[in-house]
Amino acid sequence: MSRILLTKLGSDAESFRLDDEPDRPLGPGDLLVALEAAPLNPADFLLSNGWYAVQPEFPFAMGAEGVGRVLEAGSAAGQALVGRRVLILPTYEQGTWADRVVVPARNVVIVGETADALQLAMLGINPATAYHLLNRYVALRPGDWIGLTLANGAVGQAVIALARRAGVKILGIVRREEAAEQVRKLGADVVIVDDGENLGDRVGQALDGAKLRLVLDGVGGPDVAAQLAPSIESGGAFVAFSAMTGQPPVMPLAELVYREISVHGLYAINWVWNAPREEIEKVYAELAELVEKGVLNASVEATYSLDQYREAIAHAQRPERSGKVLFAFDRPGTSS
Ligand SMILES: NC(=O)c1ccc[n+]([C@@H]2O[C@H](COP(=O)([O-])OP(=O)(O)OC[C@H]3O[C@@H](n4cnc5c(N)ncnc54)[C@H](OP(=O)(O)O)[C@@H]3O)[C@@H](O)[C@H]2O)c1
Repeated sequence: MSRILLTKLGSDAESFRLDDEPDRPLGPGDLLVALEAAPLNPADFLLSNGWYAVQPEFPFAMGAEGVGRVLEAGSAAGQALVGRRVLILPTYEQGTWADRVVVPARNVVIVGETADALQLAMLGINPATAYHLLNRYVALRPGDWIGLTLANGAVGQAVIALARRAGVKILGIVRREEAAEQVRKLGADVVIVDDGENLGDRVGQALDGAKLRLVLDGVGGPDVAAQLAPSIESGGAFVAFSAMTGQPPVMPLAELVYREISVHGLYAINWVWNAPREEIEKVYAELAELVEKGVLNASVEATYSLDQYREAIAHAQRPERSGKVLFAFDRPGTSS
C-alpha cells in the first residue's frame, strides 16, 4: 500500500512523505479498502500544523475521508461487505491519502454505485457539517433568511444546496468578486463581497427589512458578529464552524442578552464520533442520495495521483482556489 505520512509538524511538502509498504494484516473487525478518491481539506493542514482537535503522533497517516471499494474483510467484519463501495468516515483512525487502507468496519458506510467518486469522497465532512449547521440550532421555515460567510467554500456550497432545497433564502458573504459570481450561480439570493467597509449597513440594506434567523460564520473575529448582529432576528442563532482569521467570534453583549441571540460552535466530527450508528447511516444515506441527484456538487479544481503529493499539497493550500483538490486513484489529472 502507498500512503502519505506526516513526519513532523508543518504544511509544506517537507513535512510529508510517500510511504510504500505491504498491506497490513487484517484484524477480525477490519476491512481492506481500495480508495477511489480522497480530498485535501483545510483541516488536514490545521492537523499537520498541530492546530487541530486531533493531535498527530508521528508518523501520522494523512487523510480524513474518502470513498473506495472493499477488497477483503476480516473474519468478524462481514463478508457481505466485500466488493461494496463505501464511504470512509472521518474518525481520524485511518489515513485516506492512500491507495489502499485497513479500516475498522464500524468506520465505513455503504454508498451507491453510480454517484461520482470525487463528490462521494467529500461527503463525510462538509455536507454533514452543512446538514448540522442548518438543522441543529433554529427551526428554519421556507422563506426564512440565513447569512453565510465563506459562502464559496465547500461547506458554503453544501449549505447553499441544502438551504435552497428547503426554500430558505441565503445571504452569502465572500471576499472577492469571482467568488461572488460563483455563489450567485449556486443560487444564493444576495451576495456581498466584504471589503472590510460597512458590512453591517450593506447587509441591512440588502435584506430590505427582512432579518436573518441564522448566521453561519467561518471567518471569526469580532467584526463579523458585531456587523451582522443587528440583522439577526431576536432569538436567532450565530454558529461558528471555522475561524479563518484565527480569532473567536465576539457577540456584542446587548445582542447576546437583550435580544437573546445565541452563539454556538459546531465541530461535525464530534457527531461522527458520538452519534448512534443508525443516525450516521440515515444522514449519510440522505446526503449520498443528494450527491447522486446532483444536488450536492462541490466544485473541484484539480485531482492528483499519490506520487504527485507535493504538488497536491501546495495546490490545496493556494488562496483563491475555485474548488477542491483531491487525490484520485483512477483518473489523475488537473481539471482546470
Ligand atoms: N466545524 C466543522 O465541523 C467543520 C467542518 C468542515 C469544515 N470546517 C472548516 O470550515 C472552513 C472551510 O472549509 P471548506 O472545506 O469549505 O474550505 P474550502 O472549500 O477550501 O474553502 C475555503 C474558504 O475559506 C475562505 N478563506 C480562506 N482563507 C481566508 C481568510 N484568511 N479570510 C477569509 N476567508 C478565507 C476561502 O475564500 P477564497 O476562495 O476567497 O480564498 C473559501 O471561501 C475550514 O476552516 C474548515 O476547516 C469546519
